[in-house]
Amino acid sequence: MSLDLKSLVRTIPDYPKKGILFRDITTLIEDPQGFRESVKRISEAHADLGITHVAGIEARGFIFGAGVAIEMGVGFVPIRKRGKLPGETIGQNYVLEYGVDTIEIHANVLNSHHKVLLVDDLIATGGTAIAAIGLLRRTGAQADHAAFVIDLPDLGGADKLRSESVQIQALID
Ligand code: PRP
Ligand code: ADE
Repeated sequence: MSLDLKSLVRTIPDYPKKGILFRDITTLIEDPQGFRESVKRISEAHADLGITHVAGIEARGFIFGAGVAIEMGVGFVPIRKRGKLPGETIGQNYVLEYGVDTIEIHANVLNSHHKVLLVDDLIATGGTAIAAIGLLRRTGAQADHAAFVIDLPDLGGADKLRSESVQIQALID
C-alpha cells in the first residue's frame, strides 16, 4: 500500500495569526519514509523533462527542493527572502496569505538554455509561487513546472499558477 503522506502533516489552528489553519510539514519530514517518499514522488514525476535546475523557495522549499535536486542529479537554485543573497539579484514583491514579502534570485545563474522545476512545500494563495515563476522567467529560463507537497485548493493558488501556463504537481490536497 502506498504511504499516506497526508496523515503525516500536522494542522495547527490560529498560527501564525487567528483564523489560519497552519499545515505543518515538520511532522512529515521527521518521518524518514514520509520525507524520502515526498522527494521521490516529485523527482520521478519530472524525470524525463530535461530539467537542468531545481529552484526552491526559502525556507520550507529548501528542504524538499534540495532533496529533489540531489535525487534528480541537477543543481539547486535558492529563491530567498529579501536581502539574503550576496550577489546581484532580481526581486519581486508578493502578497502572502498572512502578510507581504519580497523574494529574490541571483541575477546571473539561469539563462535561456535552462529548464527549471520550482519546488515548495505548499501553495495557498499562489502569491509566492507566481512571484517565483515570474523571477525565473525573467532570467530567460523555461519555468513551466512546479511541484508542491501540499496544495490548499480552496485558496485558488494552483489554478492561478495553471493560468500562467505552469504544470503543477501536488502530493497532498
Ligand atoms: C509559506 C509556504 C509557501 C508560501 C505559500 O512560506 O512555504 O512558500 O507560504 O503561500 P502562498 O501560496 O499564499 O504564497 P512562508 O512565506 O510562510 O515562509 P517560510 O517558508 O519561511 O515559513
Ligand atoms: N503558507 C501559507 N498558508 C499556509 C498554511 N495555511 N499553512 C502552512 N503554510 C502556509
